[in-house]
Amino acid sequence: MSASQTEPSKELLDESLQGSPTVVSGIPSNGKKLYLESYGCQMNFSDSEIVASILNEAGFSTTREEDEADLILLNTCAIRENAEQRVRTRLRQFKQAKKHRPQLVVGVLGCMAERLKESLLEQEKLVDLVVGPDAYRDIPNLVDQVQGGQKAVNVLLSREETYAEISPVRLDSNGVTAFISIMRGCDNMCSFCVVPFTRGRERSRDPESIVKEAHELFEAGYREVTLLGQNVDSYKWNIDNKGQIKNPDEPVVRFAQLMERVAQVNPDLRIRFSTSHPKDMTDDVLHVMAKHENICKYIHLPVQSGNSEVLKRMNRGYTRDWYMERIDSIRNIMPDCAISTDIIAGFCGETDEEHQDTLSLMEEVKYEMAYMFQYSERPRTLAQRKYENDVPDNVKSRRLQEIIALQQLHGANRTKEMVGRTYRVLVEGTSKKSADQYFGRTTHNTVIVFPKEDAKQGTYVNVYVHDCTKVTLLGNITQEPAEA
Ligand code: 5AD
Ligand code: SF4
Repeated sequence: MSASQTEPSKELLDESLQGSPTVVSGIPSNGKKLYLESYGCQMNFSDSEIVASILNEAGFSTTREEDEADLILLNTCAIRENAEQRVRTRLRQFKQAKKHRPQLVVGVLGCMAERLKESLLEQEKLVDLVVGPDAYRDIPNLVDQVQGGQKAVNVLLSREETYAEISPVRLDSNGVTAFISIMRGCDNMCSFCVVPFTRGRERSRDPESIVKEAHELFEAGYREVTLLGQNVDSYKWNIDNKGQIKNPDEPVVRFAQLMERVAQVNPDLRIRFSTSHPKDMTDDVLHVMAKHENICKYIHLPVQSGNSEVLKRMNRGYTRDWYMERIDSIRNIMPDCAISTDIIAGFCGETDEEHQDTLSLMEEVKYEMAYMFQYSERPRTLAQRKYENDVPDNVKSRRLQEIIALQQLHGANRTKEMVGRTYRVLVEGTSKKSADQYFGRTTHNTVIVFPKEDAKQGTYVNVYVHDCTKVTLLGNITQEPAEA
């Protein structure tokens, strides 16, 4: 999802297909301009803010206009094949542009970098520069190298790099909501997923630098932060991967404690986080959420499939029963917590009965929202090496349509249940559809639109919900107390 000031749609079929230019202003420039386009997950948008900061230090200013750029960087996503195709199309457009502007430097960052470096640089000659997710500090040197007439590559993955002390430049910011990256990489090896190969080993960022960043954002007027990691429940500080304490004189910090510290920055700073992993999500995280009003009552808990055999092939580390036990725990500890998920249709060997189990799990949980995908085979993954991608495309797509139809029904019902309630809403900006209306989100991450009256962006208002569309609430500011 993009860091820009948009009203997010509730059912995004493919978040990785978004590409949005990012811009920052008011920074001293060396006369050179950077155009940066980001694809994929929130992590990538957050990384782009680090890249902008590094290039800013090197004297680049950013622009929204690709035509006036000296340096074009695409921060890419490799999670599904169609995301990669979209990037290739963009690169071919930039290759055309280079014919008229020979000085233009074009680079690929992020998840496509490592796998495609040779083909992008040598065979297709689409780019000058290829930089992997752990090598962003090297970009200024690599750009110099390109300007000296060479192609430049750094795709080395690191076990330590967290960019902890780099202050991200907030790109396309509404000045109200921001991302804070708390960890990088992933050690889970879900069999369908390319992320462990593209982003490397899991490592957590120093909690002090995270809390400091949250303080700075609050001081700068921000009122919501989203703590980001591939698996936030596995965040750990001062403890190694085998569970051994590294320095006995320092405290151990796990995700529950980290989130509590960020929640204590200020009661007016709202906290979100993404993504939780069902195998690692503990009750202490849920108790911290329940205890702090400023932690949003919303959990994104990807299930991927409702069938235990499929989950085993996916190497997810949990069964359907385990997942449902986690859902029960959320509902017991926070009866009013919204839950969303990710689902993959047509994974290797998925039978019709197994697919039916996904539908029945959806019926049991009744998610507020879901990201739903057709399985797409990714190079080097366990699934690619071990299983046959044997569900025909038309079957995958029929199953996906069934999943989407069911989710639309559940989502619409969930939205309807919110009519008649009053929510505390953070005013994020002017609605895209009407200049007289603001949009914001409830604690449950549901978008709500309401007349501006004299409310200010970046403040909290109570909004009574009088109506809804399938995914958006319509309301009015009220002085009545909020229920949630
Ligand atoms: N095919 C389809 N969907 C995938 N995802 C990850 N890898 C694949 C793949 N190979 C989905 C998962 C994950 C989300 C970010 O993307 O549902 O949770
Ligand atoms: Fe991929 Fe699984 Fe890690 Fe998520 S937890 S990034 S799906 S390997």
